[in-house]
Amino acid sequence: MTETKKEGIASEMIAEESLDGNIQHVNNPVLDLPTIEKKYLRAVAAYHKEGNSYILTDGKARVEIKVLTDDIIRVRLAPQGAFLEDFSYAVVAQEHSAHGHNFMEDDTYYSIYTATVICRVSKKDFLVSFSDVEGKLMNSDYAPMHWEESPDFGGYYVYCTKKAFNDEVFFGCGDKASNLNLRGRRIRNWNSDTYSFGFNQDPLYKTIPFYIGVTSGDSYGIFFDNTFKTHFDFAAEHNDQTSFWSEGGELQYYYIHGPKMMDVVMRYHQLTGTHFMPPMWAIGYHQCRWSYYPEKKVLDVAAEFRKREIPCDALYLDIDYMDGYRCFTWNKKYFPDPKQMIKDLSANGFKTVVMIDPGIKVDEDYWVFKEGHDNKYFCRRGDDYFMEGFVWPGRCQFPDYTDPEVRQWWGTLYKGLVEDGVAGFWNDMNEPAVFGRGTFPDDVRHDYDGQRGSHRKAHNIYGMQMVRATYEGLQKLYKNKRPFTITRAAYSGTQRYASVWTGDNIATWEHLRIGILQLQRLSISGLSFCGTDIGGFTGNPDGELYTRWMQFGVFSPFMRVHSAGDTVDREPWSFGPQWEAICKKFIELRYKLLPYIYSVFWQQHKYGVPILRPVSMLEQDVYKNLLREEEFAFGDKILVSPVLNPGQEYKVVYLPRGNWYYYFNNNLYEGGQEIRISTPLDEMPIFVSAGAIIPEYPVMQYTDEKKIETLKLITYYSDGEHKSYGYADHGDTFAYEQDIYLEKRFKQIGTANSVTLVQQRDGLYTERYDTYSIYFVGLPFDWTKAMVDGVTVPISTDDTGQPYITVDNDFKKLIIE
Ligand code: NOJ
Repeated sequence: MTETKKEGIASEMIAEESLDGNIQHVNNPVLDLPTIEKKYLRAVAAYHKEGNSYILTDGKARVEIKVLTDDIIRVRLAPQGAFLEDFSYAVVAQEHSAHGHNFMEDDTYYSIYTATVICRVSKKDFLVSFSDVEGKLMNSDYAPMHWEESPDFGGYYVYCTKKAFNDEVFFGCGDKASNLNLRGRRIRNWNSDTYSFGFNQDPLYKTIPFYIGVTSGDSYGIFFDNTFKTHFDFAAEHNDQTSFWSEGGELQYYYIHGPKMMDVVMRYHQLTGTHFMPPMWAIGYHQCRWSYYPEKKVLDVAAEFRKREIPCDALYLDIDYMDGYRCFTWNKKYFPDPKQMIKDLSANGFKTVVMIDPGIKVDEDYWVFKEGHDNKYFCRRGDDYFMEGFVWPGRCQFPDYTDPEVRQWWGTLYKGLVEDGVAGFWNDMNEPAVFGRGTFPDDVRHDYDGQRGSHRKAHNIYGMQMVRATYEGLQKLYKNKRPFTITRAAYSGTQRYASVWTGDNIATWEHLRIGILQLQRLSISGLSFCGTDIGGFTGNPDGELYTRWMQFGVFSPFMRVHSAGDTVDREPWSFGPQWEAICKKFIELRYKLLPYIYSVFWQQHKYGVPILRPVSMLEQDVYKNLLREEEFAFGDKILVSPVLNPGQEYKVVYLPRGNWYYYFNNNLYEGGQEIRISTPLDEMPIFVSAGAIIPEYPVMQYTDEKKIETLKLITYYSDGEHKSYGYADHGDTFAYEQDIYLEKRFKQIGTANSVTLVQQRDGLYTERYDTYSIYFVGLPFDWTKAMVDGVTVPISTDDTGQPYITVDNDFKKLIIE
């Protein structure tokens, strides 16, 4: 099929995109430009098998369908029959190849059967579809894959148009500031510096071309691994179609089978990797500002935290710590002895995190510029001039992080700062942002790890490769110690190198709401270690907004207050004693929950489960729940629903099935329904799943302030059998990669008059404490007896009158009656 316009498929959207000036080449009758033909795959003419791949052709174009695992199938299109080199910055080497699969041919279809998926290609019109083994259709082409030769660059616009089911709901796609369900929206991926962005503004800072579709209770995922500018249309143009297309590169996508959203997300992580275990301090509370300087200001802020006994683990230095914004230097007027300052901060329990940008000042007397220049490490334009642009330091050149040699060099530049004691690094402006023109022009050339390409191809992975260079360099410099890195721009897979934040938000209630949407979305899109600028970057929050945002911050995987320089002070005490007391209470809550949060990070790292889980993910079988946005789980045991309005006195909260304890008074609620809960300023709706065992630390001023003598375990009673999970390791080394860690699996079995706890421990790590103190919440009986591994133990009472027992941390079975 060859035509210039076809109703109802992605090709039609091109014309509309041209209105934005994005695609300039659409046929123009006035100018009488040549007709650009959209070409479609025609009937399948032949196929052959190569390993786990099936190569089908319509005579000229070729399609490869590769069975990666039982649940992951990759589809690639080569319009002229020649595939591009098989290269991806997103996908990690796959350890598990497919188990056996079968291939069958009948009059109508070629069919590939794995243990869980049937992938069919219709012979007549080359439509690709995916079903489960019961034959339930999950995803299917609406039109054959198609493409359009570009007169502007040497490649194709490539398109895939899928059917959208009537009830289908779409999730994912990274940092989009939109409702969780993307149905009815068209989005673009082109990493952009979007200061003070608004609701539904698009594109933003990150490119995650991965979505999840849910239809009649089951789900699947599509990962369109293409680094060019990509577009997705989720039944916006046509209610029965979902399309994705790109302005160059290959049409290459992965079908990821469910049926649970959790399965899809875990498998997406299997493809693109997970975040390494962060150092424990990185999950504490962080205080940031553009900028804290000079040194006295930094030390004063630190002292104030300790004086007021508000926990804090990290202080940030934004660009003003540098000498004329030259990366890897210090402004000696503001920071005469940075090493000593960092030492003093460290003695007081603070880690120092500093900003590093990609723009390197053009200055012959600046060693970083000279090294980069002499070694030809900076990006060049199409005709060989250097790519120059203005950023904070003035005229800058920019390293080509897509060159492995440049990445290696970049990693070594951190040596001095690491020797000064800096513990974490913050990579900003790496979309890349350039004042005035936004970003690099398209003709800038990149090495792209030997694949070569223009900025059109490298733009969306520029920031990812920058923070990769940072992370890999730091790994060498810190040796066995874990780096902490954070980036603003990202592409799929960036989680292997860094945490992320959502960029320059605004101090408004609307943005607090946008933040909860963005973090849930990022979390199910692979970027679980994510946070917002608590309080809003631009504008000024009042005490109530700041405090409600801080409450949400406790349940943000990355918890950092940050703000622009021209805004009011943003320390937890800045809004007066009433708000300070509440902020302190909530930051303390974060510190109490550290062992739980840490084990949730481990589950993300090891098993690829997201840290934040929208209600849609917990109960995808109920259509109504697919549309809920305000409640989400942090890990598998705690559910929250942040307060998002000023003066809000109560909130209607949906509790998923099961029973839930309200955190602040231990009242028990039945799930599977909406409940009304009051929301006084010093509380927010936080619920603990009945049956959970939550480990708790004492409040500390920073994560390793105290040696934990005994770990508190709070057992939330439920009848029946419930599992909980615990994790421990050194907290700051990579020893866990050598299996030096401890996983604990708890089982709670509750009856009307007894509770049995069973513990199973696996791993080579030994905790620094020897005992647990175990508390019980919600018991339906008064307990008078406790037996641990067959021996009766005494029941003690703490200062507040609560009964508890102290038991060895390696107990196997405990019964209370
Ligand atoms: C832009 C970043 O988004 C912001 O967080 C930072 O404070 C400024 N750049 C200054 O470095």
